Amino acid sequence: MSPHMLLISLLSLIFLDKVWCQPDCSFQNLLQSLDLTSASKVRPVRNWKNKSIVTIDMTLYTIVDMDMSMQTATTFVWLYMAWRDEYISWNPDDFCGITELFVNSDYFWKPDLYIYEMTEDEDKSPQIPYYLLHDNGKITNAMPLRIISTCNMDIFKFPFDNQTCKLSFGSYVYTVSDIVMWPKSNSSVVNQNAQNVFASKDEWVLQSVAVYNTTYKSMDVEYSQVIYSIYIKRVPVVYVLNLIIPACFLVFLDIASMFIHNCENRLDFKITVILGFSVMLLILNALLPNSDNTPMLGIFFCICMAMMVLSIIGTVGTSYMTATDPSISNSQVPVWVKILILKHLARIMFFKKDSAKEELVTPVAADNDPENAKISEATEDVLDEKRPLENNSNVKKEVKLLKRILLEILRIHRKLVLDLQQTDATSEWSLVAQIVDRLILVLYFITVTLVFMIMLCVWTI
Ligand SMILES: *[C@@H]1O[C@H](CO)[C@@H](O)[C@H](O)[C@H]1NC(C)=O
Ligand SMILES: *[C@@H]1O[C@H](CO)[C@@H](O)[C@H](O)[C@H]1NC(C)=O
Repeated sequence: MSPHMLLISLLSLIFLDKVWCQPDCSFQNLLQSLDLTSASKVRPVRNWKNKSIVTIDMTLYTIVDMDMSMQTATTFVWLYMAWRDEYISWNPDDFCGITELFVNSDYFWKPDLYIYEMTEDEDKSPQIPYYLLHDNGKITNAMPLRIISTCNMDIFKFPFDNQTCKLSFGSYVYTVSDIVMWPKSNSSVVNQNAQNVFASKDEWVLQSVAVYNTTYKSMDVEYSQVIYSIYIKRVPVVYVLNLIIPACFLVFLDIASMFIHNCENRLDFKITVILGFSVMLLILNALLPNSDNTPMLGIFFCICMAMMVLSIIGTVGTSYMTATDPSISNSQVPVWVKILILKHLARIMFFKKDSAKEELVTPVAADNDPENAKISEATEDVLDEKRPLENNSNVKKEVKLLKRILLEILRIHRKLVLDLQQTDATSEWSLVAQIVDRLILVLYFITVTLVFMIMLCVWTI
């Protein structure tokens, strides 16, 4: 071997040695040495009695939707989760100081995180399947989640209501002796984080978020849970402008229509108003769930509707009583109606008393008029007295004529009295109608005002 060759081979050895000694600083090298294909597929603890502690943290990003009729809330959250794998660890000094490694792997164990309130698994959450491995075996995972969960809403104060929605995170299969859920931050930090990022695009504003951990017992088995309580408040402006104010306007309109004197016109008007009001009821119905707890607003609407119907019935009655139909106007007002309505109710309703009293005086029937009878008798007596004195046929004729005229006058008088009686009955009926009308108006106004006051009280409490 020539010295030349020896030199070259020496040099190449040195060179190669240098190459071999250069440490491999790639993530690939670390991943290969971790050998995740044989990593633990069961809970990664060296002693089975060891508990795995899963730390989670949730930041509420936004409330996408609150469905009142389905009683569900759609929220968008950022979730952080951490646990320890006792089989994964490395010395950073052996791998160029790598302390963390992002992997996209299905080979190691992950806790089965379950949200207890979730109702739909139509997972529209963005998929970010990366896990961060730490050299001490800690594995963390952060992901955004779109959660559709049940939220028991109390809508009694709708639309001035506050709601509390809970999100309970826990394992579905591992009991509390296997997995312990633990919140990473306390309530004040979680709340602050949520307030910082919360994007309100909907009708809800975030009040606060609180967190606590608890155990949930189901058939003698306990599961560890971390529960986030989200307190939100509805922005009522839309409902006030689109539902409550128009409804109040319609009610006022209906009350005002009680002052229309023509009953037929009033009926037409009232029917139109009640139609408009039922549209409002339809809108409200579409918003609310079919639960047994009814909002105060619904009760108010219902009472308003009832009063509208009552006032329509009252108007029909009034129009019947004041009708020009002779079959009604001929009949006398019954005595009990006279006492009940014309006497007592008129006083309660501050109705003009003199007019009421005047109507109470019943006109005397023509047939039993003693004065009439007296006059006719007297005249006949006078005529009889004169008869024997005058035997003239002319005089007889005159007397006959006078008698006839007298009879005619009496008939006319009777007719006049009857007519008067009739108009009296009519005006009495119309007075009854007026009093009933006013009673309904007062009742209507008082009821609606009272219920409205109660509703305001409920809302402000
Ligand atoms: C888990 O088990 C190992 C071995 O028995 C023990 O050294 C370790 O302290 C345990 N860890 C916990 C968190 O109990
Ligand atoms: C919550 O945690 C933060 C930071 O960890 C701390 O400063 C604060 O005092 C804690 N608040 C409560 C109420 O424990």
